[in-house]
Amino acid sequence: MNNEFSFDVKKKRPEETYEKVLDYFRGDILTQYATSKSMMRIQQKITSRALELMNFSRKDPLILDAGCGPGFASMYIKELGYRVVGLDIILDFLHYYEIKGLNPVNADMCLVPFKSNIFDGIISISALQWVFKDTNDNVMKTNFINLITYFYSILRNNSRAVIQFYPKNDEIMTTIGKMITENTKFTGEYIIDNPQNPKKRRIFLVLEK
Ligand SMILES: C[S@@+](CC[C@H](N)C(=O)[O-])C[C@H]1O[C@@H](n2cnc3c(N)ncnc32)[C@H](O)[C@@H]1O
Repeated sequence: MNNEFSFDVKKKRPEETYEKVLDYFRGDILTQYATSKSMMRIQQKITSRALELMNFSRKDPLILDAGCGPGFASMYIKELGYRVVGLDIILDFLHYYEIKGLNPVNADMCLVPFKSNIFDGIISISALQWVFKDTNDNVMKTNFINLITYFYSILRNNSRAVIQFYPKNDEIMTTIGKMITENTKFTGEYIIDNPQNPKKRRIFLVLEK
């Protein structure tokens, strides 16, 4: 999986300051995120683009929203008529909106509790940067390899995972691509919208089983 795009974000992001996502999204920060209408709009726009990059081979597909947070993507996917399962490591996020009625799963996406070959698509919006953020950290590498191996296993054949995230630099993207190639049979590529505009840049990892 080649990545010829070069960048390095200087501004510090929360995932660099906080070791664990549970230490960042709590209290007021969690409430502000979950109740922000502008965040809802942004995340639904990204989800809409992620769905364009999907390729469902069956009618009535079942989609996993990995790292669903308060459910901005899950609710949007549901409104479009798809079946969706939201999963997040933070239980408090799963009490907002109609996501409560979607039976969300409180789990770590590096240890997903599902059987093989059950999803027709996996979407993950703005979450992966919390799982893999340091190319020198072997625990993070193991976690990512677990995640991608599980994603491969729970997807049906001819299905896609579309993962939008905010890597700090191109080295992270390349390392992720290498781990995917070495540990799964996924084929895929990075799709980068607005690559030259750091504010509008959106990076999607599109993988096919
Ligand atoms: C920036 S929020 C995005 C939430 C949602 N996808 C959205 O678009 O609004 C990142 C989410 O990733 C979740 N997350 C991070 N690491 C996770 C992990 N290992 N397993 C499950 N969820 C995780 C966090 O709990 C948080 O809800």
